[in-house]
Amino acid sequence: LDNGLGRTPPMGWMSWTAFYCEIDCQKHPTGCINEQLYKDMADELVAGGYDKLGYKSVHIDDCWSEMERDSNGILVANKTRFPSGMKNLAKYMHDRGLKFGIYEDYGTKTCGGYPGSYKHERTDAQTFASWDVDYLKLDGCNIDQALMPIGYPLFEKELNATGRPIMYSCSWPAYLIDHPELVDYHLIGKYCNTWRNFDDINSSWKSIVSIISYYDKNQDKHIPTHGPGRWHDPDMLVIGNKGITLDMSISQFTIWCIWSAPLIMSNDLRIIGDDFKSVLQNQEAIRINQDPLGIMGRLIQNSTDIGTYVKQITPSKGDKKSYAFALLNRNSNKGYRKVEVQLSHLGLNDPSGYFVHDIWARVDLGLLRPGDSIVVSIAPAGSVFFRADVASLHNPIGRR
Ligand code: DGJ
Repeated sequence: LDNGLGRTPPMGWMSWTAFYCEIDCQKHPTGCINEQLYKDMADELVAGGYDKLGYKSVHIDDCWSEMERDSNGILVANKTRFPSGMKNLAKYMHDRGLKFGIYEDYGTKTCGGYPGSYKHERTDAQTFASWDVDYLKLDGCNIDQALMPIGYPLFEKELNATGRPIMYSCSWPAYLIDHPELVDYHLIGKYCNTWRNFDDINSSWKSIVSIISYYDKNQDKHIPTHGPGRWHDPDMLVIGNKGITLDMSISQFTIWCIWSAPLIMSNDLRIIGDDFKSVLQNQEAIRINQDPLGIMGRLIQNSTDIGTYVKQITPSKGDKKSYAFALLNRNSNKGYRKVEVQLSHLGLNDPSGYFVHDIWARVDLGLLRPGDSIVVSIAPAGSVFFRADVASLHNPIGRR
């Protein structure tokens, strides 16, 4: 969507995969959907230095509203869990230099059974704008699939009419997984800044791998329809959650960066371990994710366990191109896998060579030519991730 927003993939924190629809604040005082949770996470984004690296938004998900609209048909935040109201919560974010995202559903009800936006599109868009919302995730439960190509564009029109810049995330294609013939990503990209297209993630390797496989299979549809202002969203980062090891975290982060996918964490930033935090804060990885070209990397080689991915990144000097590449070991049971990769086999053919940097080991490998190889050892469920800056004839030292 060309509304000037989301020129690089959005980065932030969202509640769903870590806290779901937990509304029992008696039983779970620090882990329920209430205003304190979002304030805590905002504080952590700032105190932990995440905001400086680009993680700028705090996103509410389902289960934030009252079960009914008010007598004027306006959505109301749950009065016990959000006593200060949404406008104040937005202010809390803005005062800290953060952005505020909210959730709704295009259907008659949200997936959690709260009031949906169907037939209230204009009022709801205006309500969100009046609350100073910066981002809307519009889910797709409880609505006829045939209405999706009508409702999602209609909501975009209403958001636009408010005059407030609101980034727009659509779940439209995620509800058409069984009808790929109805999914036109060129059309979706005209109306949405980002969109979910597959099942919800959960904090397991199986879930991460199933999303990666879906993206692998559909990459010829995804790659040409991905870029600044229009991002396929493989769903939240589950790094830091129980069930996700450090190697799995490295893999999820690597692949999401290779794809230029949204980096929206769903975890508990109040208790996250330092190792996991440093995965989420790897600046070289983030730089590849946020590369201004916004190109989604491609799976170029595949075997039962190992996938090899290549992504073009800036700078491109004339017909010279720089790249990031990664190897993923999908197998979480067998041991380490040793693999030899020759640069030319990745399509890195510039005779002046490339300055190669190992992103997770944080080591420079120096200038490598297309005929050179590197040998990598990949942990079970782990990944290796490299940046390869093309050497310039005018600058043989070539460091950035
Ligand atoms: C389905 C979405 O895909 C999830 O991310 C989450 O928003 C839930 N609905 C909320 O009910």
